[in-house]
Amino acid sequence: MDVKHVTRVSEFVGGFIRKCIFNILSVSVIPNHIAFIMDGNRRYSQKHNMINGAGYRVGFSALMSMLRYCYELGVKYVTVYAFSIDNFKRNPEEVESLMDLMVEKIERLIKEEIIIRQYGTRVRFIGNLTLLSESVRLAAERPWMPLPKTLKSVLLICVAYTSIDEILHGVRESCEDNLNDGSVKISVSDIERRMYMGGAPDPDIIIRTSGETRLSNFLLWQSGKCLLYSPSVLWPEIGFMHLVCAVLDFQKHFYYLNKQKQA
Ligand SMILES: *[C@@H]1O[C@H](CO)[C@@H](O)[C@H](O)[C@H]1NC(C)=O
Repeated sequence: MDVKHVTRVSEFVGGFIRKCIFNILSVSVIPNHIAFIMDGNRRYSQKHNMINGAGYRVGFSALMSMLRYCYELGVKYVTVYAFSIDNFKRNPEEVESLMDLMVEKIERLIKEEIIIRQYGTRVRFIGNLTLLSESVRLAAERPWMPLPKTLKSVLLICVAYTSIDEILHGVRESCEDNLNDGSVKISVSDIERRMYMGGAPDPDIIIRTSGETRLSNFLLWQSGKCLLYSPSVLWPEIGFMHLVCAVLDFQKHFYYLNKQKQA
């Protein structure tokens, strides 16, 4: 079956059928953490002759659907690569319109997004937030709704993020803290604890759309034992069946990956 056909069919698959499929998947192990590189929003705009921002808007609703599927399936952590530090090198107009879009989407996410409420999701922004324009930074740093009593799911949004910057941050903070308490040796766990992603488990699967198989400076430290899944669809076209395929792939490799983790 080709992927386009799968996507179209998946649009008709309702909640009930999703639940059945998830029940079957749950017989085996469910990934705890899935990370997404949402590649292809610009290409999607071009393909459909849309103005540039339009692709990102369709991409946002694709993300909302994907979050729903992940949380329904019982995935606890979802991480998305929303904006790389390298993206600041794009032309200033595009960067500015992306920043505006980001503020709008962050606000909407906090205020209205039903998925976030329904699944008691805690949202955290990851990255060097000092690099963001003030309006985005304020939106990202704003105190969130009171935390739900039972924390069922976590959404980590990487903005102004690259792995190299994250590692630099971890090493720097470790050095500073060590200077303060006089110790000379830095351990892996010292650095890990001070990473932007500190506290979150390593991802089990990274899904990158557009058929690209590069990590592009995303979660390099955390992805040593992680499965990379790269469907050829552009991000706004990603659907339920792609997630199912990724999870099946993960389950097929689980024994091996798990052995690696314990080694
Ligand atoms: C974060 O951004 C600032 C500039 O705002 C820069 O000086 C710093 O090196 C960056 N990285 C870290 C890890 O702080």
